[in-house]
Amino acid sequence: MDIQSNMLTLADGNQIPQEGFGLYKITDQQTMDSSIKTAYETGYRLFDTAQLYKNETEVGQAFKDLNISRENIFVTTKVSEANQGYQSTIDSVKESLRKLQMDYVDLLLVHWPIQRAFFDTWRAFEELKKMGLTKSIGVSNFQIIHLQYLATKANEMPVVDQVELHPRLTQKPLLKYNQEHKIISQAWSPLGRGTVLNIPELKAIADKYGKSTAQIILRWHLQNGVSFIPKSVHPERIKQNADIYDFELSPAEMKQIDNLNQYKRTGREPELTYEYNHQY
Ligand code: A2P
Repeated sequence: MDIQSNMLTLADGNQIPQEGFGLYKITDQQTMDSSIKTAYETGYRLFDTAQLYKNETEVGQAFKDLNISRENIFVTTKVSEANQGYQSTIDSVKESLRKLQMDYVDLLLVHWPIQRAFFDTWRAFEELKKMGLTKSIGVSNFQIIHLQYLATKANEMPVVDQVELHPRLTQKPLLKYNQEHKIISQAWSPLGRGTVLNIPELKAIADKYGKSTAQIILRWHLQNGVSFIPKSVHPERIKQNADIYDFELSPAEMKQIDNLNQYKRTGREPELTYEYNHQY
């Protein structure tokens, strides 16, 4: 198996690469082009952007300039808090597609749960899927309570829940809930934005396999069965992060990494974002 052949099947029948490439923070065209070029040549096929990243135009331009055909890639974007609501969601997704120079995205996510437009936004998502503007619909930063609440009115449930997930925030109950409900969990900041790379226990495992701590963490995500989208602007790291398919962590090592959990977020608390209607 390698990064390109490694696919998961979503509850709606579509396929998603288990490992993808995060595009958060890349805003200049040159870095966008070179990062996507290296990632694509390495075998990454999932590219993750968002309205909030303010780089959809550059993402679309990069694919065009690199002559990468649409059917060869899996593109995710996310609707921002400001654009939530029924009509504003629909309008904003059309605008995202214009910027991306695409007819559809593969996966559309609600970026954060907010109480102001919780059900209206999801109704728009179900409509956008029917319109063919997205192949799959999902959510991001939803905890169990948000999924349970959504289920009270949804006609179709999310097939992906993209959440902060790394060795200091392992979210085991949420992963179990998602698995039981056929929702693929997807890790954003799978490397904890770089904050978990110096943990001595991980260094010891890395030395044993002749890998980096980043590779050990990504392999842990892989064996946990979740999707994950590391990001880097450095070619050697982009390649290194895809070079995790030639070794296997033992059950004891998996457990050891699970035990590094400290319930520590680098990002916002979903419940407060829900209440304030924006990332506070
Ligand atoms: P850089 O872009 O300078 O390589 P996450 O995906 O959890 O948000 O983490 C991303 C951070 O981790 C980025 O700051 C990135 O920095 C860094 N990073 C990504 N891959 C590696 C790696 N293999 N080794 C060290 N740092 C990495």
